[in-house]
Amino acid sequence: MSFKFNFGVSDDGESTTAHNNCAADTMCIDEDVQPALSAAPCEIIPLAIPRVSSLVVDAIYYGQQRLWKRQIDDVQFQLAQQDSMDENESSLMRHAIAKDKNASDVIKGVYEGGLKTWECSIDLLSFLVEHQDEPRMALNGARVLEIGCGTGLPSLHILKTAPSAHVCMQDYNRDVLELVTMPNVLANTVLSPAGGSMGDEIHADDDTETCEIDIDFRRTQVLFGADTDKIIGEREVPELTPEEVREADLRLLDGTNIASRCEFVAGDWANIEEELRRQGREHSFDLVLTSETIYDTDSYKRLHDLLVCVLAQPDMNAQAEGQRVPMVLVAAKSIYFGLSGSILSFSQYVRSRGVFDSECVWQSGGSMNREILRLTWINSN
Ligand SMILES: C[S@@+](CC[C@H](N)C(=O)[O-])C[C@H]1O[C@@H](n2cnc3c(N)ncnc32)[C@H](O)[C@@H]1O
Repeated sequence: MSFKFNFGVSDDGESTTAHNNCAADTMCIDEDVQPALSAAPCEIIPLAIPRVSSLVVDAIYYGQQRLWKRQIDDVQFQLAQQDSMDENESSLMRHAIAKDKNASDVIKGVYEGGLKTWECSIDLLSFLVEHQDEPRMALNGARVLEIGCGTGLPSLHILKTAPSAHVCMQDYNRDVLELVTMPNVLANTVLSPAGGSMGDEIHADDDTETCEIDIDFRRTQVLFGADTDKIIGEREVPELTPEEVREADLRLLDGTNIASRCEFVAGDWANIEEELRRQGREHSFDLVLTSETIYDTDSYKRLHDLLVCVLAQPDMNAQAEGQRVPMVLVAAKSIYFGLSGSILSFSQYVRSRGVFDSECVWQSGGSMNREILRLTWINSN
């Protein structure tokens, strides 16, 4: 059985709206696919430069700012080139995406939709920009967790604009983190086309605002410099050996502090909570962000349990002095047609647990209303 609901954002750039190259469309949840035998385990994955020769990225504009985000076609191209047909849950997800990017937007318990950018993540991005001067939402120095990050636009904005923030990005699927989240972090930092110093390896198309970041060229430059006789002619890049690729990637990452400023965690929320508790990392995040993750009431308990585990305890003195307040921002559609989740049912669930106050801090209005809820510890305001 599959459901369709007004949930998604197209990554194919075909139907452009005020939300950049992201447009509301319908989404399909596929429950026919053999479900994973067990919920995805918790894995902490180090930042790595992908083993591809180039990345194709699109520009996302918000206010006066721009982020780069990997094209889903580029992800599909990479998957098509890889032999990934093992009978494990990861390859099932890869198979679904490689086959047809719109065939199944979510495969319950296997792939939870992280390869695309969903509409409410742009709302969250805009909300962060609008409130960036508020001391209680100060980003610099903040420990931030984005739950169900997918393409991770809010996290990318924080990594770019708050140099001393630490950002942890979580997704159900390790593949999502490796195929889009990490490439997006790199495209906006170490490999940023806006970096300028290596301008000629970027093929910018003014109409579509698409860039191809030539990673091979950067690897060659970082190892041999611009004048090396390994570079023949203006743009030709020799093939590096696997050892040279590894060495170049290390040097590229070592050139900045980005690897120490971000963390990537894959897995199901219940397993992540268990692992964080095992590591003694309860209450270690000042700001928790999540967008388009409350579409299924079955997940409310584990999402709420994770929030209770990770959100920093309030410091009453700091708050009295108008400093940062630990908070969760939940961006979502008011209603997910054909599905159990909604802003109303999630707010009621939060109230029934009696741990957080919940307040609507932003609404889009219109027939397909979208909202942002702010959760804070009860009696902490
Ligand atoms: C529809 S995507 C939204 C992605 C992104 N936040 C956005 O708005 O573009 C839903 C995300 O929720 C996460 N998710 C859903 N259920 C989950 C679960 N039980 N455990 C861990 N993550 C889950 C997945 O990682 C997935 O990326």
